[in-house]
Amino acid sequence: MSAPSAPRPGTLCVHGGVAPDRLTGALVPPLVQSTTYAWPDLDHPPAITYARAGNATVENLERRLAVLEGGSDAVCFGSGLAAIDALLRCLPRNARVVAGRHLYGGTTRLLHRLHADRLRVDVVDTTNEAALRTALEAPADLVLVETPSNPTLQITDLFLATRWAHEAGALLAVDNTFLTPLYQRPLDIGADLSIHSTTKYLDGHDATLGGAVVLHSRHAGQGDAPDGPLAARLRWIRKASGAVLAPFEAWLTLQGSKTLHLRTREQWGTASRLAKLASDDPNIESVYYPGLPDHDGHEVHRRQANGDGGILAVDLGGIGAARDFVSHLRVFTIAENLGATESVATHPASMTHADLPPERRRLDGISDGLVRLSVGVEDPEDLEADVRVALNQVARRQPVVA
Ligand SMILES: Cc1ncc(COP(=O)(O)O)c(C=O)c1O
Repeated sequence: MSAPSAPRPGTLCVHGGVAPDRLTGALVPPLVQSTTYAWPDLDHPPAITYARAGNATVENLERRLAVLEGGSDAVCFGSGLAAIDALLRCLPRNARVVAGRHLYGGTTRLLHRLHADRLRVDVVDTTNEAALRTALEAPADLVLVETPSNPTLQITDLFLATRWAHEAGALLAVDNTFLTPLYQRPLDIGADLSIHSTTKYLDGHDATLGGAVVLHSRHAGQGDAPDGPLAARLRWIRKASGAVLAPFEAWLTLQGSKTLHLRTREQWGTASRLAKLASDDPNIESVYYPGLPDHDGHEVHRRQANGDGGILAVDLGGIGAARDFVSHLRVFTIAENLGATESVATHPASMTHADLPPERRRLDGISDGLVRLSVGVEDPEDLEADVRVALNQVARRQPVVA
């Protein structure tokens, strides 16, 4: 008899890391909502004593994320930013952080506003091989990249980033929110940490806020301690700061994660149809989608990921056209967040990246005409028609001169 093959990603989404409840047999493990736990006597504390120190439902989600990413441990937090904040707090004072130029606006704010007096942050265009090489000729403690990045889907070469980060003595942390572990597994490439805003695809229903750091087995560790292995330090920081993920949020995220493979397959398919439609439209100046052959970094992306994602961005050339476009969308909602069942259109300059100085936005390609589209699971034909109608309205306002 041949050995059973390893479970595939869809099977892991449904079953990974989680078994039916041992006490009741409940197929969906119950939500553990208790703040505190009984001690049989003073010499025998329970495994978890208090909700800030741990929670069984959150641990179920952590096991699922670790299995999906091929990591040894995952540590969940109250949001994606709380996860990144905890990682930054693990670094010693004056540590050197090489941060990608292309990051979610909130991550940039965290680095430059909250951690500015603790850390030395060098912003580097990590999508540029020469700039990355030069930056990592000097010693560093942490390299933090997003690929594809929010909102312009810029690509960093994870093979080069891993090699050069390690030569510089740094950890490589990859924000893998956009592709999910189903389509990119940074730890398999050699990265130390894969970070998620679980708020996005992993929950996938616009219902929770959460984050996670998934760790390579090099950084595994039990329990919590301020000076232990990285996994233990992250748990200690979570306990000390209180940046916990609420059990109900974890339970909902576990439920959402079971259909990750089905949702993303649909979203990826529709996004590539919309990217093609947008590329053929004369009202659109630029389309950003890693699946397009002329997207910067397309070849690199294809080497390190096995999917293009459900997010694209289009540049309509100015704030007037961007306003016209989003205001005529009927199936897409104007909103923040991404990766969920509902399609949303976001204007990064006034929403997700509004806190960046205009000059920095300009350098990063976040123009006033840029609109980010997160494709949901509505029928692709309806989404295509929605975009077509909105683009026609833009065309009526600004006739294209042949
Ligand atoms: C790529 C990326 N990382 C991190 C975050 C922050 O996550 P959260 O909103 O869960 O704090 C976001 C939020 O949009 C994001 O897009």
